[in-house]
Amino acid sequence: MNGKRILLIVSGGIAAYKALELVRLLNREGASVRAVMTDSAKSFVTPLSLGVLTGDRVFGDMLDATEEQEIGHIQLSRDADLVLVCPATANIMAKAANGIADDLATTLLLATDKRVLFVPAMNVRMWHHSATQRNLATLRADGALVMEPDEGAMACGEWGAGRLPEPPEILARVRQVLAQEAGALPLPGEGRPLAGRRAIVTAGPTHEPIDPVRYIANRSSGRQGFAIAGALAAAGADVTLVAGPVSLSAPPGVRRVDVQTAREMQAAVEAALPADIAVMVAAVADWRAASDAKQKIKKDGTAPASLPLAENPDILAHISTHDRRPALVIGFAAETENVVEHAAAKLARKGCDWIVANDVSGDVMGGSVNRVHIVTSDGVEEWPDLPKEEVARRLAARISETLT
Ligand code: C5P
Repeated sequence: MNGKRILLIVSGGIAAYKALELVRLLNREGASVRAVMTDSAKSFVTPLSLGVLTGDRVFGDMLDATEEQEIGHIQLSRDADLVLVCPATANIMAKAANGIADDLATTLLLATDKRVLFVPAMNVRMWHHSATQRNLATLRADGALVMEPDEGAMACGEWGAGRLPEPPEILARVRQVLAQEAGALPLPGEGRPLAGRRAIVTAGPTHEPIDPVRYIANRSSGRQGFAIAGALAAAGADVTLVAGPVSLSAPPGVRRVDVQTAREMQAAVEAALPADIAVMVAAVADWRAASDAKQKIKKDGTAPASLPLAENPDILAHISTHDRRPALVIGFAAETENVVEHAAAKLARKGCDWIVANDVSGDVMGGSVNRVHIVTSDGVEEWPDLPKEEVARRLAARISETLT
């Protein structure tokens, strides 16, 4: 990142303090940061602290005559290699999506000719609101990049998606975007090596009903699978994403089929055949309740009820031996120990071509970073800790190489 110039726009929100840490990390990598703050951001961090860290003055008022004389807002928006909005509130994204320019930050977003990366942080309900999701889709369609927020406990006491990703993850994404901008990697949509190929991706958990109010589930967030579907689509593939119950919006250009149970997932995968590529990322429940009670099961006041289970179909194994088997079938293995050994055994047992093995003993499930091994009949490849989007992009690149 040496010598790269980042224009950092800080909008208001409790996560604004993390922008300070981000500036420190960017500086450490040799990037220079020029900061702009919205008025509301100044209630959370001071221009002084941001200015000390950036080693520059902090811009904020568009009508400041001196600022305009010395460096006009058009200039400010063009002098950077990347415009980074962090944290990005629902408000600033709504304005940017609609071309509203009523302060310096939003004017810069309208005037810039550089790539813009939004790093959202907001309350979970604001994040899921259809207005916000509509604005995100507009921003992405206009060429902006938007990071997925983390899931977890929020400052307001609620729980869900909307937390600002940790600064090292944001740094990794910035590094990746700068590399793309420098032409080292194809941008989403550019260079479409998988054009004309069909892909099926499964993602998320499945929910297996026990009775009308209870179900068996697991902690899968669906993020890795959604990112893979997005990366395959960006590489030109025609993607069907079969998604279990998750709170994520589908990446652009992906056909999404929502399912609840393993059996529904299998039917949706079958319906999406034929395909060239199958990437089975879903954390399919291994078992379902043997009988799906039509009425709520009651406590009888004595011993706890035991729950008879039936095994679910193994979609990956089924697709690997299917008479319309895709040319490349990839499974995932989430393990908590002996990751590679278990993955190699799974490769043979399931009959797929590759296993992407990950260690889920930490907070991989629901988190935004993943460390994977690619296990094939040729051996094992170890990838470093990477944001899930980067794992997806590399996997899509490796799939393209294999198929072309
Ligand atoms: O056997 P295990 O669940 O560890 O295998 C994981 C891999 O198999 C993942 O790719 C997952 O999507 C797939 N799988 C499946 N159907 C199941 C269980 C797992 O497709 N019933």
